[in-house]
Amino acid sequence: MTVREIKKGILSVGAIDWDRRLFDELIPLPDGTSYNAYIVMGSEKTALIDTVDPAKEHELLRNLEEAGIERIDYVIANHAEQDHSGSIPTILDKYTGAKVVTNAKCKAFLMDLLHIPEDKFIVIEDGESLSLGDRTLEFYMTPWVHWPETMVTYLREDKILFTCDFFGSHFASSELYANEDARVLEDAKRYYAEIMMPFRTNIKKNIEKIEKLDIEIIAPSHGTVYRRPSFIIDAYKDWISDKVENKVLVPYVSMHGSTREMVEYFVSALMKRGMKVKQCNAIDADIGKFAMELVDAATVVLATPTVLAGPHPAIVYAASLAAALRPKTKFLSIIGSYGWGGRTVDILKGILTPIKAELIEPVLIKGLPKEEELKKLDELADRILEKHRETGIA
Ligand code: FEO
Repeated sequence: MTVREIKKGILSVGAIDWDRRLFDELIPLPDGTSYNAYIVMGSEKTALIDTVDPAKEHELLRNLEEAGIERIDYVIANHAEQDHSGSIPTILDKYTGAKVVTNAKCKAFLMDLLHIPEDKFIVIEDGESLSLGDRTLEFYMTPWVHWPETMVTYLREDKILFTCDFFGSHFASSELYANEDARVLEDAKRYYAEIMMPFRTNIKKNIEKIEKLDIEIIAPSHGTVYRRPSFIIDAYKDWISDKVENKVLVPYVSMHGSTREMVEYFVSALMKRGMKVKQCNAIDADIGKFAMELVDAATVVLATPTVLAGPHPAIVYAASLAAALRPKTKFLSIIGSYGWGGRTVDILKGILTPIKAELIEPVLIKGLPKEEELKKLDELADRILEKHRETGIA
């Protein structure tokens, strides 16, 4: 990666990770990612905003060298997660006069996670500023735009907001700036769904806070930079709103075809009633796409066979993931087949508790469904439509 200039004295010096395919050993990265770091040069001091994942620190060092950066006075740590902070120790080794500027919570994390010595820190408070000479950095706490210590850095004179994870996307691109198109929005939505969705309430407060600033550019530490902040801010406002779509997400597993037959009948019943449906096989689902559907689906219906007296483990995983992501789903139900009994409904109900949704009466059928038993799925589709109508979305 080469150094890219945003403005004179403001450089993007991070790394593109074209090949990374998994984040946190959990999240698929079909389009790779980037760890953006930024140099801001003032007339007196130079700051580095965030660093890169340790696997890419050689690229950061090379870029700093290419940019001719001989002195770094401040390393701003907006977030302690290692994909942004992991190269701070190396930067401190090379630029021995540098201090890490961050909030108290982030400092504690960095001392625990990276063993950075206490005397290397300058601790700042919400709203505090730091002069670089003719440029000024302002710091605003934006907790839970991934972790509790997350903050953003605002470059006052140039009206640039450095947001780290907030408004980011896992998207490796040679372009510095985002093309404001559906493709960019899809990556940003995927990222929101996987990383930010559990923190909707905090995000709302944080957007209200940053909107008081006069922002011309949003520069996150993953993905591309936004020259029109409203493009990404408005998308976030839509995702975090209470608005849901007239859509039913149906994650399913079938072992011998009984549940599949139910799913096919049920999906068709939903479609006949004018609802959008996303049927997704939990065995090989892209969990990023699954998470994206959870952003706005009004209803989720889990479909599972009974395995060893409970739901199929792949459906347990889908339910656990949905519960962890805490989507704004309004209605839940369960369908499936069994041979001789089991606790499928109770187990899934327990897992799904964190989703504050209404459970619509599940439909469990013994063995391969008979013609008259499939009518229960029509009744379930009717009840879902009724609920969607009551919600004003159908
Ligand atoms: Fe990109 Fe929460 O780290």
